[in-house]
Amino acid sequence: MKKKNLILLFVAVFFLTAGPALAKGQFLVKKQKKQLVNLGKAIFNDVNLSFNQNQSCKTCHHPSAGFADPENRVAPTVLPVSDGSIPELFGGRNAPTAAYAGFSPIFHYDAGEGLFVGGLFWDGRATGRMDVTATGDLGAGPTGDPLADQAKGPFGNPVEMALTFENTGFTTEEEVVAIIQASNYARKFEKVFGPGAFDDIAVAYNNASIAIAAFERSKRVNRFKSKFDKFIREQGGDVSDFGVEVQPDGFRKYVGPPARFKSKAFSYDEADGLAIFNSDSYTQMGMTPDGQNGGMCYLCHLTTNHEVVDDDNRPINGPAPGIYHPILTDFTYDNLGIPVNPRIAVLAGPQDTDLGLGGQPTQLDAAYGEAYPFVADEEGKFKVSSLRNLSRTAPYGHNGFFATIYDIVHFYNTRDVDPTWPGPEVPATVNGDELGNLGLTLAQEQKLVLFLETLTD
Ligand code: HEC
Ligand code: HEC
Repeated sequence: MKKKNLILLFVAVFFLTAGPALAKGQFLVKKQKKQLVNLGKAIFNDVNLSFNQNQSCKTCHHPSAGFADPENRVAPTVLPVSDGSIPELFGGRNAPTAAYAGFSPIFHYDAGEGLFVGGLFWDGRATGRMDVTATGDLGAGPTGDPLADQAKGPFGNPVEMALTFENTGFTTEEEVVAIIQASNYARKFEKVFGPGAFDDIAVAYNNASIAIAAFERSKRVNRFKSKFDKFIREQGGDVSDFGVEVQPDGFRKYVGPPARFKSKAFSYDEADGLAIFNSDSYTQMGMTPDGQNGGMCYLCHLTTNHEVVDDDNRPINGPAPGIYHPILTDFTYDNLGIPVNPRIAVLAGPQDTDLGLGGQPTQLDAAYGEAYPFVADEEGKFKVSSLRNLSRTAPYGHNGFFATIYDIVHFYNTRDVDPTWPGPEVPATVNGDELGNLGLTLAQEQKLVLFLETLTD
């Protein structure tokens, strides 16, 4: 047993013996949390909450697909986007995983970095901010939590669960609350939120979304049980510098796994993939090669710990301090230069240019604190994805342009040197500094893929 665990054990024993009142209080809180999570799961899985009673959140966020859309997973080229409750009505974006999403902080502007951070959806429009009520058609007022805000979107989305006024004659809030009230888990709802829990429709609607968010944040959804997590434990914690030698000028030089590398969790090639993920590329940075190139993936998909803190330096939505659980995103936004996916127009009809973050000026203004003067700079930027459960969440990218992990890795490596890639959907803001000409060999691309496949629970 490590020293730290021993201290924790002492602390636990101290609290357990400190007096029955405290122990009982903790037990109660735990039980209430469990009830909230169970209720959230019941709502998440309820197909009655869709126009044709054929679709729940789970339909598009299924455990078998890493909490993304299983239909897209099996046919990523034919069906990159989800079918709605009303058959043959498709959305214009790829369903991301609902797992690990709850770690994204409230949408805000980081003045130091000059970047927008946090929120949910590819464009961050579920902000969790109390001062943005108009964005995202979320209805019933904000909840103060991006994950709960997000959960209010799908019910009234005409190409998703389709409980719209046009379809039902009632507002989405009225319809959702009535269906929950008539469900076999209505008693659970009242147990958690008290008698009269259905009286105020807006409050009940927000509470339903808070329950869903509790389920999505629970250990059942965020397991941290991948091979990568095993490797982390085996290595004794932080692996953000694994396979890297940091040079005096800050260049993160690829050196690969250490001599006599031995691991029960990772093969040599998987560990080598992590080293490539963690290191810089001479070619990309316009330097004369002095060794092998790396992939520079760590820049946005952090292998350091998740550490988003509020003004008082408390972690926001993150794991408890001291626990090393990289989420593999910095929760910012970027334009990778992904081309239009022509398949979406075939399924969903003609599409406008998808401006992503830049298409949400109201939320940018709120986070900036005044009218944000550089909205055009945010056009074409999308949320940096967590890469957890990746091997189950095909296709890849906000529009599902890439059918396989290999495709997107090859794009990062060769976007700017292989003229067979179609041009970007939004050319003006493409990131040309950190990707596009990594100079990786085919074997290195394959090792990156092998590493990315270890991120699955
Ligand atoms: C018809 C398929 C479909 C259904 C049903 C559906 N979703 Fe989604 N979900 C999507 C798509 C597509 C997106 C991305 C949309 C966007 O970003 O504009 C998404 C985004 C999300 C996200 C954001 C993840 C992130 O990283 O930003 C979460 C969380 C989520 N959905 C949870 C839910 C919940 C909870 C429900 C039920 C209330 C639900 N979804 C119902 C398809 C669906
Ligand atoms: C400059 C920041 C940045 C860097 C560097 C970066 N990524 Fe990304 N990554 C993103 C963003 C932003 C997205 C989502 C973009 C979109 O869909 O428009 C993304 C998406 C992905 C996805 C798709 C996830 C999904 O579920 O659809 C994969 C896989 C991925 N990145 C892997 C990598 C690998 C491997 C590297 C290194 C070779 C890398 N990334 C480097 C920002 C970055």
